[in-house]
Amino acid sequence: MNTGRLAVDLAGLKLANPTMLASGILGYSAETLNSIAENGAGAVVTKSVGLKPRRGYPNPTVVQVDCGLINAMGLPNPGITEFAAEIRKTKAAINVPLIVSVYGYSEDEYAAVAKKAVEAGADAIELNVSCPHVKDTGSEIGQNPRVLDAVVKAVKAATDRQVFVKLSPNVTDITEIAGVAAKAGADALTVINTVRAMAIDAETAMPILSNERGGLSGSAMKPIAVRCVYDVYEHVKVPIVGCGGVADWRDAVEFLLAGASAVQIGTALALEGPEVFRAVTRGIDKYLRRKGFKSVNDVVGLSHRN
Ligand code: SIN
Repeated sequence: MNTGRLAVDLAGLKLANPTMLASGILGYSAETLNSIAENGAGAVVTKSVGLKPRRGYPNPTVVQVDCGLINAMGLPNPGITEFAAEIRKTKAAINVPLIVSVYGYSEDEYAAVAKKAVEAGADAIELNVSCPHVKDTGSEIGQNPRVLDAVVKAVKAATDRQVFVKLSPNVTDITEIAGVAAKAGADALTVINTVRAMAIDAETAMPILSNERGGLSGSAMKPIAVRCVYDVYEHVKVPIVGCGGVADWRDAVEFLLAGASAVQIGTALALEGPEVFRAVTRGIDKYLRRKGFKSVNDVVGLSHRN
């Protein structure tokens, strides 16, 4: 569905509708990314890729809880050299923007991976500075303003594509971190990655995930994520992409009203299937018509008007 009413522009990256595949779900093969695009996503974000291949943690890496999923996969990925071929293949197949999520252990690594991803065809980069449980990367970068500043600046210097920075909720003040990322040159902010969490099996009396601690996604996240978007919107001027617990159009509209220009969907896709993108888009469209808005952009941040 590509009506003008639903089109969004994220710092120059144009989407036909404001739904995006969140990083981490089905994000490594051209076939699955293409199938998400065909199911109506306005853009897709790959699972995070690093400089070198990484095996990730042993199973179990995901546990379903009442209110979502807790995962600790440990950033498994084939490394950017091998993944570059998949980026080329995906780019040739899909007709929506392809955003490659990257992680690293230093600013030079983030920049090198981003550069290779763009050379292979990425339309934009999302920096994973928020994975809550892998040592020396992810949130260890995103929780440290000095290091985050260096990473964003290095990646911006290495590529001319839009750089999204995916923020962690596991910080004292997300607006401070958002400000650092924006000042360093982030074109957009993805708000938020998972909340640190764990689950324990009553029978075995042991943590369920092999890594013990993981990140919570899904419906329990939504009120936290909406509050983070609302706070960040009041502090920075760059576009925000809301992420956390979007399962239907009403969730998406809530994020838009809080200040997000687009939303990412991950856990709902895993739990309900790829039809979620079209259902959310259709629901936003109906809402806009019912309320008399000409464009989805007219509702972004509307809840701040008092
Ligand atoms: C993982 O691969 O374990 C999750 C990555 C993330 O939460 O950013």
